[in-house]
Amino acid sequence: MPTFHLDTKAADQWLKQSHTDWQAAVQQAHDTVHNGTGRGSDFLGWLQPLAAESEIVKNVLHAAEQIRANSEVLLVIGIGGSYAGSRAGIEMLTHSFRNQFAAERQGPEIYFIGHNLSATYITQLFQVIEGKDVSVNVISKSGTTTEPAIAFRLVREWMVNKYGEKAGERIYATTDASKGALRELSNAEGYTTFVIPDDVGGRYSVLTPVGLLPLAVAGIDIQAMLAGAQEAAEQYANPNLMENTCYQYAAYRNNLYRQGKAIELLVSYDPRFVTFAEWWKQLFGESEGKEHQGIYPASVQFTTDLHSMGQYIQEGPRHLFETVLWVDEAGHDELTIPHQEGDLDGLNYLTGKTVNFVNQQACLGTLEAHVEGEVPNFVLHIPELTAHHVGHLFYFFEKACAISGYLLNVNPFDQPGVEAYKKNMFRLLGKPSSK
Ligand code: PA5
Repeated sequence: MPTFHLDTKAADQWLKQSHTDWQAAVQQAHDTVHNGTGRGSDFLGWLQPLAAESEIVKNVLHAAEQIRANSEVLLVIGIGGSYAGSRAGIEMLTHSFRNQFAAERQGPEIYFIGHNLSATYITQLFQVIEGKDVSVNVISKSGTTTEPAIAFRLVREWMVNKYGEKAGERIYATTDASKGALRELSNAEGYTTFVIPDDVGGRYSVLTPVGLLPLAVAGIDIQAMLAGAQEAAEQYANPNLMENTCYQYAAYRNNLYRQGKAIELLVSYDPRFVTFAEWWKQLFGESEGKEHQGIYPASVQFTTDLHSMGQYIQEGPRHLFETVLWVDEAGHDELTIPHQEGDLDGLNYLTGKTVNFVNQQACLGTLEAHVEGEVPNFVLHIPELTAHHVGHLFYFFEKACAISGYLLNVNPFDQPGVEAYKKNMFRLLGKPSSK
């Protein structure tokens, strides 16, 4: 099976230190992760992906079948790590217009809520689901996060108004095994529950029931996804930098950071990656941005943003590098550019060429331009957007993030900084200290 590959040609002139220079540091970071000796080592549960045939996965599949059988809509309530991964997976692996396109959709429409505090978003979502049969997956590891807790309170009221005492049969909670408000409520109401393992932090949890249940409801083969993650776990357990694509990415981005390239843009040429980029930004931003250090993770979608951010990238301050996600088998090669009499738009020189071919030339042309503009580029080749490869891709970045965090000498598993806004918000809201 074709596999992932990191092309560094468009960055080589900046990668001054060689494999040998980085090998010792990478070996140390590898040992820290695999021996569980670093800061945050209580959160290494993601390192070994769930077995595709495990009881947990079977239970997830069973719940997904129930939801698919009796629901026109699944509401997924969550924020941060309890939200972005499943949304990213669904957007990468299902139809681009899934919710609007019943003929192609496998399973219910899926909407996300609880990842913002917009009254407009919430009100309008209730308008969309009016009259439809709904199930709910509320996801919160702590069980106390404000945004999903408020959304769940509103959704629960809606469900009880519609289904009365049977509402609880349509509510699935993914939370801590024993503690937190959502666990207590689930036990009291008898919801079906799934557990977020203690040793997996939110942003590393997409391949646990957090991500797997919504993904399975969307009709995605989660067992293939876990097999892809397992393949990645085996490939990236090799401490030899020469042979480990994931470690090369982790080391080389640090190499550039040490030369002042403090902002990394995750680039893709397909809008299916929009939410994946959000997941990636959370993963790296929360893991590395601390102790006044860390590469700032940002994202752009090309060719769309070549008509906006392209200017800044080409000619703004030279503190950027890019990591391009390139899908080798993009699909839909049947879409070719038609011939037109008169050639008024001047495009006949492209007659018969696939849209994919044009996209690829745009990518190659951009790489060349950005390298000339002193922006180093890595290109991560993804063989195809299948469940297997997307499982591999999630794992690739989780492992790279852990290694990169240790190379940077920070704890890649905590997020002390996110408490600051909460403290102020609770004070402004007048939250009692006992809650
Ligand atoms: O990565 C993290 O730990 C966070 O982003 C959390 O996922 C996010 O804050 C949501 O937390 P919870 O699942 O406890 O509601």
